[in-house]
Amino acid sequence: MPKVTLDIENVKPFITEEEIRGLEPEVKALNEELDRGTGPGSDFLGWLHLPSSITEESIKEIEQCAEEIKNTSDVFISIGIGGSYLGAKATVEFAGHSFFNELPGEKTKAPRVYFAGQNISSDYLSDLLDVIEDKRVSINVISKSGTTLEPALAFRIFKDLLEKRWGKKEARKRIFVTTDREKGTLKRASDVEGYKTFVIPDDVGGRYSVLTPVGLLPIAAAGIDIRELIEGARAFERLTSTPEVPSNPSYLYAAVRNLLYRKGKSIEILSSFHPSLHYVSEWWKQLSGESEGKEGKGIYPASVDLTTDLHSMGQWIQEGSRVIFETFMVVGNSTRDVKIPFVENDDGGLNYIAGKTLDYVNDRAYRGTAMAHKDGGVPNMTIKIADRSPGALGELFYFFERAIAMSGRLLGVNPFDQPGVEAYKRNMFKLLGRPVKKGKR
Ligand code: PA5
Repeated sequence: MPKVTLDIENVKPFITEEEIRGLEPEVKALNEELDRGTGPGSDFLGWLHLPSSITEESIKEIEQCAEEIKNTSDVFISIGIGGSYLGAKATVEFAGHSFFNELPGEKTKAPRVYFAGQNISSDYLSDLLDVIEDKRVSINVISKSGTTLEPALAFRIFKDLLEKRWGKKEARKRIFVTTDREKGTLKRASDVEGYKTFVIPDDVGGRYSVLTPVGLLPIAAAGIDIRELIEGARAFERLTSTPEVPSNPSYLYAAVRNLLYRKGKSIEILSSFHPSLHYVSEWWKQLSGESEGKEGKGIYPASVDLTTDLHSMGQWIQEGSRVIFETFMVVGNSTRDVKIPFVENDDGGLNYIAGKTLDYVNDRAYRGTAMAHKDGGVPNMTIKIADRSPGALGELFYFFERAIAMSGRLLGVNPFDQPGVEAYKRNMFKLLGRPVKKGKR
């Protein structure tokens, strides 16, 4: 039984079964292209069979390294940005304790996990340095290109700190590098210094890389079972390999969002009813935004956390401009549910739900919201996630990866490049006065 399922009941007033069926030939043809390894961006299809091709040897290597980190460190810092950051962050938040870093190591059986290199904030970095003072620290710098400025800056600062604190020899043992097989400054530095390195496959782009060492090493260091995560993704690799739209949840989701887009619904809001999904939404925003937002096209991916944002963005969603559709994410069962107590004087008037659980109330809040938004002209789907296990998240990651790849191809763009992200870099480096390399402008 899959732990991730898709319910499209609330889009039915907006699109018909015939319209979905009408897209099937296109989906089938595009699926054939994916299978044959052709079409735009075909050099970056390594993610497609990644779950089933991860070897026992590479899983063991990551697990052993994570064990070493756990034994020698109070703090583990994962340094990276974009696809080299969001998958691990999403997993730690989804599958870990809500207050992971607040718990003692004996309970989490893992070092505290922090992230750096995902911004250029001086305060963020200084505050992190405060937190790790006197702690045994290990770092994992992750960059496919090895040249991205944000992680390069953070790496320089932490490397310097480690070397000053423990000397070069010991620092070397606390630095783990995940980068390209042969190119980039990080690879060169690792060769010179002899850091333990992990390779990001050439044919896997950043936002599709959570199941490579990019995501797997930090996730394993945080004490989360990577085997379960991979198993979940494997199950979905099998489940979503059929080109038949109705029985392939990824293709059904891709078809529905494209039909809605063609009807003028150009913004998709991913609305989650569990705070642990916040960074899954951030991961999805990158996957969807970078894959589809090009050539003047693309669904704009937005997200809200509910019920929190029903008290802020809820108004806009219910009655604002009708250019949106919504995808809810709900989690079936909490790890531990809380019962509402009965109180004698019924202060607050909540005795009518005394004895019920918070999950029960959250579920009614979701149902009430989905109904209200549909009635307010917002087509909506729901992704149901059985629980907060790594396996369920593995399914969800792969569900979205295949869906967005298909969705981008349905849109007629290359879902695996991101030419637009270079524009700000050119301006920034010019403003920073970076020396221009010979032959480059
Ligand atoms: O999806 C992508 O390719 C990007 O978001 C990259 O992951 C991000 O820019 C970081 O790149 P790198 O891993 O080369 O430092």
